[in-house]
Amino acid sequence: MARKFTEKKLVVASHNEGKVREIRDLLVPYGVEVLSSKELDLTEPVEDGDSFVANAEIKSNSAASESGMVSLADDSGLVVPALDGAPGIHSARYAYNPWKEERDFGYAMGKLNLELGEKSREAHFVCALSLAWPDGHVETFEGKVFGALTWPIRGENGFGYDPMFIADGHQETFGEMKPNAKHAISHRADAFKKLIDACFNT
Ligand code: IMP
Repeated sequence: MARKFTEKKLVVASHNEGKVREIRDLLVPYGVEVLSSKELDLTEPVEDGDSFVANAEIKSNSAASESGMVSLADDSGLVVPALDGAPGIHSARYAYNPWKEERDFGYAMGKLNLELGEKSREAHFVCALSLAWPDGHVETFEGKVFGALTWPIRGENGFGYDPMFIADGHQETFGEMKPNAKHAISHRADAFKKLIDACFNT
């Protein structure tokens, strides 16, 4: 049995405003006040784990021990089996454009398309969500959405690799889908559902 979350407040171990907002919205029905590690000025740990789960746990454990409050962290990315799982846990870093000296997902998707050539375009997004207590207890859940990478990229919605990804059973890319449609089937939604069922629903 997973440990239940029974507090009034939670720290989201992320300095990314978008992520914090998404998690805050999701926890509204549970009456949880969501603070962010940025608001509390917590340190950002080095994410040197070798999996999404390991990196999510590094972040949630670090925020929980520093704040003394239950903390939630997520780690996510795109996995392409034909490229030995790349960009995987390095999804954000893979998008670094050395000429522009900044993160550039147009560049990252072009690079993926070239590396793939005639190889299989099957891909999936993964999201690991980890809830950590200050006493060291952790509950971690992994969500996935399977699909394929298309070229040329399509759509202005979403972020990251969304314009290149078509989920199985769909025609639109994540970049073309309305946000609510993506949120209903995404890797993050899958992980959240598992977390809510295990730790929030009584
Ligand atoms: P993180 O914020 O360190 O977990 O990095 C996750 C990276 O994976 C992002 O920068 C995106 O490149 C990619 N990623 C994760 N989730 C999604 C998604 O839903 N759509 C598109 N790209 C995603």
